[in-house]
Amino acid sequence: MGQTVALGADHGGFPLKGLVKEFLEQQGEIVLDFGTDSEEPCDYPDFALAVALAVSSGQAGRGVVICGSGVGASVVANKVPGIRAGLCHDTYSAHQGVEHDDMNVLCLGARVIGPSLAREIVAAWLRARFSGVERHVRRLSKVREVERRFLAGGNFTGQQKK
Ligand code: RB5
Repeated sequence: MGQTVALGADHGGFPLKGLVKEFLEQQGEIVLDFGTDSEEPCDYPDFALAVALAVSSGQAGRGVVICGSGVGASVVANKVPGIRAGLCHDTYSAHQGVEHDDMNVLCLGARVIGPSLAREIVAAWLRARFSGVERHVRRLSKVREVERRFLAGGNFTGQQKK
């Protein structure tokens, strides 16, 4: 059975969203489409947040966010605790980001890559699984520790609030 993938895009990402949705469904995935639904200008944080929350809450196993460059999407998604979003415009990063870093949100820039490369990137990302290798687990726990520090009210010097 397919996994549930949350999908969202702003107007810059909209031209690629339909194609990614179709590809995911062809692969047997269940797609939760958070919009947008046209090229009418809108704000990428709204869609990146919706996808990130779907993944962090467990409603979806993974997410894809598309904007013009993919940059804004990744900035926003990474603000949500539990999200490890990566902007990938090559297939190596798309699978290695999952295998080593347990990347759970893939960000794409529709103004940067074309449809064929986008499909290959999504395919590489979908197939990839976290390796579970000790050094990657250790690094991931350090990533989680950084997150915990700031969730606990730490400041940017890294000191914890008393
Ligand atoms: C929209 O024009 C554009 O700024 C947005 O899609 C994205 O590229 C932001 O990172």
